[in-house]
Amino acid sequence: MNLPNYKEARVRGKESFPIENFVLDKKYQELGRGKTYYIKTYGCQMNEHDTENIKAILESMGYVEAEDMNVSDVILLNTCSIRENAHNKAFGMLGRIKHLKENRPNILVGLCGCMAQEEGVVKKIGEDYPFVNFVFGTHNLYDLPQILSNVSISLKQEIEVLAKPCKMMEDFPLKRVSNKKAYVNIIYGCDKFCTYCIVPFTRGQERSRRREDILKEVTALVRDGYMEVTLLGQNVNAYGKDLYPDYSLANLLEDVSRTGIPRIRFMTSHPWDFTDEMIDVIQKYDNIMPSIHLPVQSGSSRVLKQMGRRYTKEEYLTLFKKMRERIPNVTISTDIIVGFPTETEEDFNETLMLAKFCQFDNAFSFIFSKREGTPACKLEDLTTEEEKHRRLHQLNQILNEGFLASNQRLLGKRVPVLVDGVNETSKTALFGYTDTNKLVNFDGDCSLIGKIVLVEITECKTWSLDGKVVSDINVNV
Ligand code: SAH
Ligand code: SF4
Ligand code: F3S
Repeated sequence: MNLPNYKEARVRGKESFPIENFVLDKKYQELGRGKTYYIKTYGCQMNEHDTENIKAILESMGYVEAEDMNVSDVILLNTCSIRENAHNKAFGMLGRIKHLKENRPNILVGLCGCMAQEEGVVKKIGEDYPFVNFVFGTHNLYDLPQILSNVSISLKQEIEVLAKPCKMMEDFPLKRVSNKKAYVNIIYGCDKFCTYCIVPFTRGQERSRRREDILKEVTALVRDGYMEVTLLGQNVNAYGKDLYPDYSLANLLEDVSRTGIPRIRFMTSHPWDFTDEMIDVIQKYDNIMPSIHLPVQSGSSRVLKQMGRRYTKEEYLTLFKKMRERIPNVTISTDIIVGFPTETEEDFNETLMLAKFCQFDNAFSFIFSKREGTPACKLEDLTTEEEKHRRLHQLNQILNEGFLASNQRLLGKRVPVLVDGVNETSKTALFGYTDTNKLVNFDGDCSLIGKIVLVEITECKTWSLDGKVVSDINVNV
């Protein structure tokens, strides 16, 4: 048994991490033969991408994906810790699984992802959730075959969580959700330690992947006909700092651009180390999409300081304006937290003013959620729940006005759209995303899926656009 440990998880060192290639031991290759699995994934793109690894590991062991949790032999929850409601969802699901297991006692139930890295969660699973057979963390996905083998023969709960990462894995098998759009990890972990955030504890120290491994992966995706890659990390702007003296995200973006992949996105960028060089590169290469997610979190410099964000409102706005000026048609989206423990009405009004000024193209807004173990958890909370909800509602109204204004600027324009798929509701309605990451619905034939087509925008709503295809040649290639 190995348990999560926040004291160790908090430590940041200068060590480099050994890199190994994943190989499935022969003795596990038949373990899942004739059996099925079901994975429920919560949280961010990093978790979705981990699920793509986990599915491939399970399938290399002979397991087959089940359509439905009720009939599968292994049920795995890949969990998220970011806010309390993510916790509640996972625990709610465990409640359902408990009932399921009363009728089918032989199913194996596992929990992984960020919640598995939380001391309190693992303690609770050990004490109150005996029907959970196994737990593993974000740092040791590669242990899954061995853990499954152990729980298949032993009746005791298997908890194998590493408090901090000890090595990096390459050649992880992948079962990608899409055959046109791919996630590619470039950096793991986060060293920013924003005072409200649990991620530095659950994902560990920043570790960049070697540039040659990233470029090899993207080159293979181009060869396989992929149209878009999203370079992933909790803080992609830190890319390379732990590995190279003079190779940064700007350099990596240039190299990825030269692979010829039609569309490149990246997320998430911390405003603090977003360099001018990055702006130049985005502006220079047509296949780097002019769409940047730049979380601001608050419009009050006082609150930003307490959040440990390392920039002031003025510095954020300077960067924001520079992006708007230098990158034609750029769209900028953001994340905002309301109700940070010390946030006053005045602070909140500054956030409203910033949102009004920026007219973000898209945004995610949240009510502050206390995370056990983070510094902000200890701050005295000044605001009632009711007031926090009021603030969120007021902010959302302003954000929505910005989204609509941003969408309306596209009315009558012809924009390139990568066709994602068919709308659930209608067989002839397709949907896709513009270069600027806006959702567009339009009529068209299924044969367009996976292509970049030109769409004329005919109607603009707050959350999406309607349009008609004006050219169905693959415009970017
Ligand atoms: N690494 C990314 C953020 C990942 S978490 C970045 O720094 O931009 C996504 C968003 O969740 C954050 O931007 C923040 O707005 C929100 N968030 C994180 N911790 C939170 C908490 N304790 N309560 C409410 N929202 C939180
Ligand atoms: Fe969390 Fe801040 Fe790291 Fe983003 S940069 S993951 S908000 S600690
Ligand atoms: Fe959630 Fe972990 Fe992502 S906490 S947001 S799944 S990094």
